[in-house]
Amino acid sequence: MTMQDLMHNNQAWADEQKTQDPEFFHRLSLQQNPEYLWIGCSDSRVPANQVVGLDPGELFVHRNIANVVLHTDFNCLSVLQFAVDVLKVRHIIVCGHYGCGGIKAALGDTEFGLVDNWLRHIKDVYVQNKSEIDNLRYEQQRINRMCELNVIEQVNNLTKTKIVQHAWERGQELNIHGVIYSIADGLLKELKLNTNNTKDIDPVFRMKSQNENPE
Ligand code: CO
Repeated sequence: MTMQDLMHNNQAWADEQKTQDPEFFHRLSLQQNPEYLWIGCSDSRVPANQVVGLDPGELFVHRNIANVVLHTDFNCLSVLQFAVDVLKVRHIIVCGHYGCGGIKAALGDTEFGLVDNWLRHIKDVYVQNKSEIDNLRYEQQRINRMCELNVIEQVNNLTKTKIVQHAWERGQELNIHGVIYSIADGLLKELKLNTNNTKDIDPVFRMKSQNENPE
């Protein structure tokens, strides 16, 4: 496909949208009001809106390699802060996917360049779960279980941010869901770790403002 083809596709898509709903673009141009923030992998086979059947305007999206939430990543944190504080999304979905190339790379020792630094944290998740992972017989099983454990880790990382904790403190509704997508059949699976409070995380991660901290 050439760039020209993509421009033609775009024209056809915009025409089709207008045919179905003449007010569609006008409505979107006034505001966005998404209830969901999606944090997913950059993998081209996991298109966020299509997978959950949401239209433009309904899903705020952040994607990076291996759907990682790092406390030093101002890109992800800015998306999170804007989504929670300004857009007031009610749900955050962390979506991993089976067969993730980022996870596979993190489990190996092949050098890929700059991206190795990005994936470095996933190696920590592996080391924390080493006995479980090493007991799995096949490489594909090890990669896929790590894909699930990585989602769990990133959900936990979200609950450790002040952005999420402050939202909960002020009584804002905010649910965090961990899901995993199967490229092989197009289906999402919930990882049953939905959370809307900090009770399951170690107190060392529960932040208090300075005047709440006793000397
Ligand atoms: Co991936």
